[in-house]
Amino acid sequence: MNKTAEIRALRESEVALLAALAGEIWRAHYPGIISAAQIEYMLDERYDEALICNELKRRDLWWDVLLLNGQMSGYTSYFLADAPDTIKIDKLYLHPRAQRLGYGGQLMDHIASRMAAQGCKRLTLAVNRQNKTAIAAYRRHGFVITNTSLKKIGGGFWMDDYIMTKTVLV
Ligand SMILES: CC(C)(COP(=O)(O)OP(=O)(O)OC[C@H]1O[C@@H](n2cnc3c(N)ncnc32)[C@H](O)[C@@H]1OP(=O)(O)O)[C@@H](O)C(=O)NCCC(=O)NCCS
Repeated sequence: MNKTAEIRALRESEVALLAALAGEIWRAHYPGIISAAQIEYMLDERYDEALICNELKRRDLWWDVLLLNGQMSGYTSYFLADAPDTIKIDKLYLHPRAQRLGYGGQLMDHIASRMAAQGCKRLTLAVNRQNKTAIAAYRRHGFVITNTSLKKIGGGFWMDDYIMTKTVLV
């Protein structure tokens, strides 16, 4: 069955639902990539509802959701990076039932249209070096690995990432 897909800005009233969706996606996707303890630590840090509500007030950061037949099925957040002309994709997540169907590409295209409005030319992101399917998806959508990053994130945990970038014609 064809699904009706809609991408639009996250609403403050939906933040709790988004945090629950994030928990479902992360607990399904990240075992085998990072430990269960790190998954819970990062979910607590990154999907705190007050934090997201504050981010929704920013003019240099955006949260968008993907609705499939009206059901929240994915989300992305991205912001103007310090590097000139660059937007950083901070989060890009789809529910397992919505993966590998082209919706990730649709969200990236949506971000690219925001880039055009901001006069940006470059997208960048960090992806765990063990997150093979996401790395494959980013490559498929024109990103290349440009660097590595090993960062302490507190709680005794580390992020061991590739930095991937894509130049977009605007
Ligand atoms: C990464 C993600 C956003 C990509 O979106 P997507 O809609 O699944 O990807 P698309 O359909 O646009 O692109 C498909 C390509 O992605 C790759 N891919 C996506 N899921 C895959 C999977 N389960 N197994 C293998 N390759 C996969 C393949 O290269 C695929 O191309 P192919 O089908 O021609 O082989 C999505 O898979 C996701 O949410 N993954 C889990 C969470 C995650 O890791 N997010 C990124 C954090 S940095």
